[in-house]
Amino acid sequence: MRRSDRLQFRALRRAARGTLLLFAAGVAAVAVSACGTEGIQLAKSNPYYKGAKIFLEHCSGCHSLAIVGAEGSATSVQDRVKTNAPDFNYRKEDVQQVLYALRDGGFSGEIMPENVVVGKEAQEVAEFIAKYSGRKAEKEPGQPGFRPVE
Ligand code: HEC
Repeated sequence: MRRSDRLQFRALRRAARGTLLLFAAGVAAVAVSACGTEGIQLAKSNPYYKGAKIFLEHCSGCHSLAIVGAEGSATSVQDRVKTNAPDFNYRKEDVQQVLYALRDGGFSGEIMPENVVVGKEAQEVAEFIAKYSGRKAEKEPGQPGFRPVE
């Protein structure tokens, strides 16, 4: 390799490295800012962790639940027409209700897709929701979806 070639090669390599760094920084920024997600606030060893992960991946775009940092539900009246998916911070669900909604695509069958998750995953996410949904309901009656926790 001639000296001028080598210099050119080095410059190219430096440019490539710069681009890569920029790219990596971009990816990191997106990961951090994704939907204001704070992530799952459960230990990995928690038996409900897997369900929480499934929820975050498949349900958090439409439903809210603070324990996984999900803010998918409409929070203002203006947004409400978008999906109007129940906010699980306030709405208490049991396992059967979730499984039913998953099979039929929500109770109304209009917006929520059917069979978003099935089988074992459906069971896991249902148990997770049954355990952690409705936690704010007791404290804040008058909120949308309020249902007293039995
Ligand atoms: C594309 C948006 C969307 C996604 C994704 C979605 N849902 Fe829904 N879901 C809705 C909407 C809208 C409703 C309310 C209307 C209805 O019941 O059809 C609903 C209703 C429900 C209900 C019934 C709540 C009640 O008490 O009326 C449950 C339970 C539920 N969803 C669970 C889930 C689970 C679990 C997932 C992920 C595996 C999920 N949803 C993914 C939009 C969504």
